[in-house]
Amino acid sequence: MRKLLIAGNWKMYKTPHESTSFLTKFLPLVKDNTHAEILLCPAMTCLPALIDAARSTSVAIGAQNMHWKDEGAYTGETSPAVIANLGATHVLIGHSERRQYFNETDTTVNLKLKAALAHSLIPIVCIGEHLEERESGLTNSVLELQTSLALEGIDPAIAAPIVFAYEPVWAIGTGRTATPEIAQEAHLIIRKQIAKSLTPELAASIRILYGGSVKPDNAKALCCLEDIDGALVGGASLDPQSFADIINHTKG
Ligand code: PGA
Repeated sequence: MRKLLIAGNWKMYKTPHESTSFLTKFLPLVKDNTHAEILLCPAMTCLPALIDAARSTSVAIGAQNMHWKDEGAYTGETSPAVIANLGATHVLIGHSERRQYFNETDTTVNLKLKAALAHSLIPIVCIGEHLEERESGLTNSVLELQTSLALEGIDPAIAAPIVFAYEPVWAIGTGRTATPEIAQEAHLIIRKQIAKSLTPELAASIRILYGGSVKPDNAKALCCLEDIDGALVGGASLDPQSFADIINHTKG
């Protein structure tokens, strides 16, 4: 009942032209795909061109971040209303790089999650523990806390579109992946917390993606376990063939 979602996070890579030529090369490589939803999250400056190029394809386009307010004196920020108005359908919220380098907190994640839902943007809420937290046995409590704070005050009646992404910080861009067992265990913790914070029904239907050094050769093992409903891919989503291979390898 939970359809796989494979999302590419391009971070601060690619010009508008590079992003649309990626799409031209990528589309034929996934033309037979029906098993997964595909999402690309380019840099903000590439959104209009990529949204335009992806119109009437099966590839959805999302933003990597946004502010929680519709407008105001917030120099350098991007409004959720504008992101939705451009035609983006998804938004990443609280990516660990945002938390680490731009002071994103569980409080701002919660505000952004509410704003995304208010603008009918599908939020992908990123959570995950640091290496020291894992090594000190704190993983479960960190994940429970991040999940519950993200969901604080969210009305279950409007929560169905929410997606979570479990991204252990020690696995992002390091080439070090969680083992399938570690990932499955973490996803189950998150799902149990969603049941507590929202409802058991929503916990059963909300998708939880795995992210952190997902590559074509580990995608199938990592992304298709009982509580894992797809992937959030950084580095390996920058190349059309490797991102298509990840999608095609997760079939069946
Ligand atoms: P990575 O990045 O696949 O390059 O590890 C994942 C992410 O940051 O979402």
